[in-house]
Amino acid sequence: MAEVSNAAKTPQGPIQVPTRLLMGPGPTTAHPRILTAQALPLLGHMHPPFIHIMDEIKEGLRYMFQTESPYTLMISGTGHAGMEAAIANLLEPGEKIIVGVNGIWGERVADLAERYQGDVIQLKADPGKTFSIAELKAAVAQHKPAILFLVQGESSTGTHQALGDGLGEACKAAGTLLVVDTVASLGGVPLFADNWGIDCIYSGSQKCLSGPPGAAPFFMSQRAVDKLKGRKTKPATYNLDLNLIADYWGWFKPARSYHHTGVVSTFYAMREALAIVGEEGLPAMWARHLAAHQLLWKGLRELGLQPYVPDVKDRLVTVNTIKVPEGVDWAALCKDAMDTYAVEIAGGLGPSIGKVWRVGVMGFNARPMAVEQVLTAFRHGLAKQGYKQPAAAAG
Ligand code: GLV
Repeated sequence: MAEVSNAAKTPQGPIQVPTRLLMGPGPTTAHPRILTAQALPLLGHMHPPFIHIMDEIKEGLRYMFQTESPYTLMISGTGHAGMEAAIANLLEPGEKIIVGVNGIWGERVADLAERYQGDVIQLKADPGKTFSIAELKAAVAQHKPAILFLVQGESSTGTHQALGDGLGEACKAAGTLLVVDTVASLGGVPLFADNWGIDCIYSGSQKCLSGPPGAAPFFMSQRAVDKLKGRKTKPATYNLDLNLIADYWGWFKPARSYHHTGVVSTFYAMREALAIVGEEGLPAMWARHLAAHQLLWKGLRELGLQPYVPDVKDRLVTVNTIKVPEGVDWAALCKDAMDTYAVEIAGGLGPSIGKVWRVGVMGFNARPMAVEQVLTAFRHGLAKQGYKQPAAAAG
């Protein structure tokens, strides 16, 4: 037998994890109760008590998405897996998809849809801007695509896309499915799947739900499920084939069948996250996020800092983009916040790189204590760089 090589070292000693306040675009600081749930003993992924937990999650997601549709589940994977599941299952090769691109997430979906051989039409808006409902309706009426894809909370630029005002009806009339990314917005801002006529939504566990990354809340309307069931071709993914995942979650029949091993501990976490949402109630949760966003901006404005998103109606509450003033080194400020206060402040992403800081007020961190800590870190980091507030903002 060959000799065991010790050239590669295993980790030494207990794991070291420093305590940090996560005020970037996510993951956000997890709720302690969620971490406790996650540490419970494992169950088998087909055991009846675990199936019961999955059923609780399905029901909790119906509240979260504000839908009567029975078609909710968690994808075992990150928000990206949710994104890929939506496109891979609802788009057939050669079909048209209109992708609203005003930041990195739209760009990624355009790329993803091409990989699934869609006929991709990119509808572009400048970073920091959103799409008017009128232009979206006009694009849908003109192209009659299989899918209209939009991002509710574009975390790379900090915009909030409006989705109501008859957009869902216009999509339905054109035979279009309305697919929405809510990774950075679900639980932080209002969302009404049924009322707004949305057909497919995915999200992430690590943002306003305050859980660990690794599970993607997912929803389909009846129209979306009809499309899934009526596909002419199999989705070009086994891992994310919703016809198969659906049978693990009991969408179409009560008996469950094995497709993959569900992320057991992460699903415990999501069960607990949804219980916490239910105890607070969505209106209170949305109001708490708004109040935290307003408190943040009061403090930022006192420092003379300005929002990157020009129009207040387009500004996302949950991920805030703050213009880096001339002469200030954004990365040095992020480093100082981390080194001095163990507070995470993020830089830009995609089109906003080098132009903004991004501060998340999400889930467990959408509260005054966390906001005040991030403001302290800004005050300190700016002062260290000799930044002088503009006269109008001073005092
Ligand atoms: C991730 O979601 C990010 O916006 O950085």
